[in-house]
Amino acid sequence: HARKPLISGNWKLNPQTKEEALTLARGIASAITDSTPDVDVALFVPYVFIESTMSVVGGKLSVGAEGVCPHSNGAYTGGISTSMIKSIGVDWVLAGHSERREIFGETDYYINAQCLKILDEGMSVMLCIGESLAEFEADLAGSVCATQLKKGLKGVRKEDLDRVAIAYEPVWAIGTGKVATPEIAQSVHAKCRDILAGMYDRETANMIRILYGGSVTPDSIDDLMAMPDIDGALVGGASLDINKFGRIVNFN
Ligand code: G3H
Repeated sequence: HARKPLISGNWKLNPQTKEEALTLARGIASAITDSTPDVDVALFVPYVFIESTMSVVGGKLSVGAEGVCPHSNGAYTGGISTSMIKSIGVDWVLAGHSERREIFGETDYYINAQCLKILDEGMSVMLCIGESLAEFEADLAGSVCATQLKKGLKGVRKEDLDRVAIAYEPVWAIGTGKVATPEIAQSVHAKCRDILAGMYDRETANMIRILYGGSVTPDSIDDLMAMPDIDGALVGGASLDINKFGRIVNFN
């Protein structure tokens, strides 16, 4: 691999209790052994479970937050600031997930504010991008990703890009069981890398990890990871299953 792979799990609005969260985190931690490939593993978990899950992971496995409020402090009821999550030792934060864009109405402008704040705080951001089914069918995957990359990373300094990962998640593949073929994913990843090279430079683009997300399972991970521009995965449903996520982390 040209870049150190990053396998990540996004628990979304799961599981429902602290006990279940701890059982899942412990199980995933125990699936990472000496024979696991040289990877980074990150679990994006609900805020209330961050500290307890952090206490049972370590080594290759770290815990991240599923999002942040881009405002620093003040009258933003329900918000969680970057300072708050930084203060408990979080490294990774997710931004731009399609569910946040669609269900919660987050815009590219708001997502960009989150990215800048996360990086200013010294943490790392995983920026999610991806096209809808209609856009895919209209052959617009590349242009949608270009727009989301340019708007999401507006103002991000080149020297901060070592703390940025991109997750390409075609919306039609999320939670549908319809994983993109490795060839489709590879072609969009290569386009994204070209876009990043245009925004910054080729050397910088070659350093940035671009992950694939959307119905990744133990059956699809090996072929995806064999592609030159696929540097890891962002796993939803299968990250809630110790055996499945354990197998994904130990890809061949
Ligand atoms: O963040 C993860 C993605 O939304 C993928 O979810 O693996 O359940 O399709 P999924």
